[in-house]
Amino acid sequence: MDTYINFQAVEKRYGSFQAVSSFDLIIAKGEMVALLGPSGCGKTTTLRMLAGFVPVTSGRVHVGGRDVTQVPPYRRNIGMVFQGYALFPHMTVEKNVAFGLEMRGLAADEIGRRVKESLARVRLERFADRLPKQLSGGQQQRVALARAMAINPDVLLLDEPLSALDARLRHEVRAEIRQLQRELGLTTLLVTHDQDEALSMADRLVVMNKGCVEQVGTPSQLYERPANRFVAEFMGKSNFLDGSIEGPGMFRVQGGPLLACAERSAGPASCLSFRPERTHVAAAGQARGDGHNALEGTVALFTYLGPVIECQVRVDGGQVISALLPNSAQTATQGLELGSRVQVSWNASDSRLLA
Ligand SMILES: Nc1ncnc2c1ncn2[C@@H]1O[C@H](COP(=O)(O)OP(=O)(O)OP(=O)(O)O)[C@@H](O)[C@H]1O
Ligand SMILES: [Mg+2]
Repeated sequence: MDTYINFQAVEKRYGSFQAVSSFDLIIAKGEMVALLGPSGCGKTTTLRMLAGFVPVTSGRVHVGGRDVTQVPPYRRNIGMVFQGYALFPHMTVEKNVAFGLEMRGLAADEIGRRVKESLARVRLERFADRLPKQLSGGQQQRVALARAMAINPDVLLLDEPLSALDARLRHEVRAEIRQLQRELGLTTLLVTHDQDEALSMADRLVVMNKGCVEQVGTPSQLYERPANRFVAEFMGKSNFLDGSIEGPGMFRVQGGPLLACAERSAGPASCLSFRPERTHVAAAGQARGDGHNALEGTVALFTYLGPVIECQVRVDGGQVISALLPNSAQTATQGLELGSRVQVSWNASDSRLLA
């Protein structure tokens, strides 16, 4: 992979508090990478160290082969959309977009041309004379995006760009950002705590926890092969069974049955996990063929979710296992009732061993 952005052992300390620890990451030109993690894990701090607004405590940051660690923000040519709303409320849309260009001292006609072009990209040419408060949330976010792109940045930084939007708008603007980013080949670092957003937008994801990187990979790598329980829990829902490895491909549930697992654990594993959408539920006794793990229990809850129905089964021993049943033509829950005896099963190859 050709290196465009390179974080090398970057750290940030505030007094004795370690906000970001030995952060290493390479981003290729044109790539979109998402930093994902719970509140306070250091996402914004990392983004701001790349932008230059937060000085690094130690380590180096390179962009396009240049060491920018000591370069001030205005000389890094980085466009940024900040967390929360970030438009100047007293300026029109046009003035907002022109701001960075005026700061750079461009000629008036050049500024006019670039503002027009940027607003056209986000389809807001007609709104140039409005004030931010006269726009919807989605439109305001698109103005912020136009402003960040007007300077023709080498790198685009997006900090929770969609968090203020409702679910439907978020989907719309998400697709729009992704399309623009691809068209322009913009190297982009996106910060989000929304795993759907990260999965659907980014080429690669970086999952962070307490200032440290837990795992880096493509959306499917992280979802299908989470490195540990934290990543598995963060990337969608999973079922977890505590226990221990009893031999190659064999996992003993604590005080329970022996289960099969296709993968070999790299280290000591104390947990076996599998996804609800890979979990089947059938009336008790209708065992599935080889290669399937099965546990018996009772149906505890059905939740109608539209495209899928979630079925929660309390297996013997007390754990609750969740299964997602597709809401297809043949009623998925046929023959299953609250309190009925069932068997949950899943493929050995869908089992993951986690530390
Ligand atoms: N100027 C500062 N002084 C001291 N501590 C700070 C400062 N800025 C951030 N922190 C701390 O550093 C940690 C990381 O903050 P950061 O803003 O990077 O989190 P985040 O991952 O972006 O969270 P969120 O999802 O809530 O935006 C937090 O614990 C925060 O309190
Ligand atoms: Mg933040």
